[in-house]
Amino acid sequence: MAASRSSVSIEDWTMSGDDFTEANRANWDERVAPHLIAYGTDNFTADPAALSDVVRTDYELMAPYLPHESVEGLRLVHLQCHIGTDTLSWARLGADVTGIDFSSKAISAARKLADNAGLDATFIEATVDDAADYANSRFDVVYTGIGAITWLADLEKWATTVFRLLKPGGLFFIRDGHPMLYSVDDERTDGQLVLTSPYFSGHGPLRFDEGTTYADDAVQLNNVTTYEWPHSLSEIIQPLLSVGLELLSFQEHAVIPWKALPSMVPTHHGFELPGGAERLPLTFSLAARRPL
Ligand SMILES: C[S@@+](CC[C@H](N)C(=O)[O-])C[C@H]1O[C@@H](n2cnc3c(N)ncnc32)[C@H](O)[C@@H]1O
Repeated sequence: MAASRSSVSIEDWTMSGDDFTEANRANWDERVAPHLIAYGTDNFTADPAALSDVVRTDYELMAPYLPHESVEGLRLVHLQCHIGTDTLSWARLGADVTGIDFSSKAISAARKLADNAGLDATFIEATVDDAADYANSRFDVVYTGIGAITWLADLEKWATTVFRLLKPGGLFFIRDGHPMLYSVDDERTDGQLVLTSPYFSGHGPLRFDEGTTYADDAVQLNNVTTYEWPHSLSEIIQPLLSVGLELLSFQEHAVIPWKALPSMVPTHHGFELPGGAERLPLTFSLAARRPL
């Protein structure tokens, strides 16, 4: 989610939730082909030890809450799995994986990637809202990787999906962009942190007409318009508590996998703000358990 954004325009208020979903789906369908290249899927297939950087980081954060600090033999479902590189990284770490995404093109690509890599995995085409109706709801782990939550309008439905997919005692883990970062103007090149976008969800989706993708600046998409929803930290956490999950861990991090602001500097584990990582949280991670 880019932070410099225009609010939804008046004519868009005549749009329904389905219209927003279809606009977003068309955009995500179109990103699949360039992302297969940008995500290095050929290398992922060729090297049986390859893991995505996102999963390497998330595994470390999640491990303290896993039985034996391992996903070996656990049934893991990945919500908003995209082209499957993260899902299949969990498979390489020993999990029995299911990936779910609303983009048919992403799901086809993920199935092909699994075949090419010789990995067992199930990929299901469904929205997050519908996911629990399509997947057997007895997962040990429900996982959501970075860059996912702003695509969801209703986090109460999301939390219900997570709860229904988990077996009693099962673990939910998410790491995503920090809502405070998403409020900051992402076009300023002077390093100043200026709030220009809403922090709370308030007035519905924000409309973007970008036509580019974070994975490759050179790509120009035809389906340029997307809709994303700001969600504050409390708007993310409270629905998970309200459905009955128990919070195990909540952390804020000063590093992010992509260059979210022009002034960010690359480090060996992602991008950070110059002049003091303590200035702003860039991502958050959360672990919660469905009670026995
Ligand atoms: C930024 S990607 C997830 C990124 C993932 N961490 C990765 O890099 O592979 C967001 C994904 O959410 C999916 N998505 C967006 N809205 C969705 C919805 N309502 N239900 C299911 N999937 C959705 C998109 O198709 C896309 O694959």
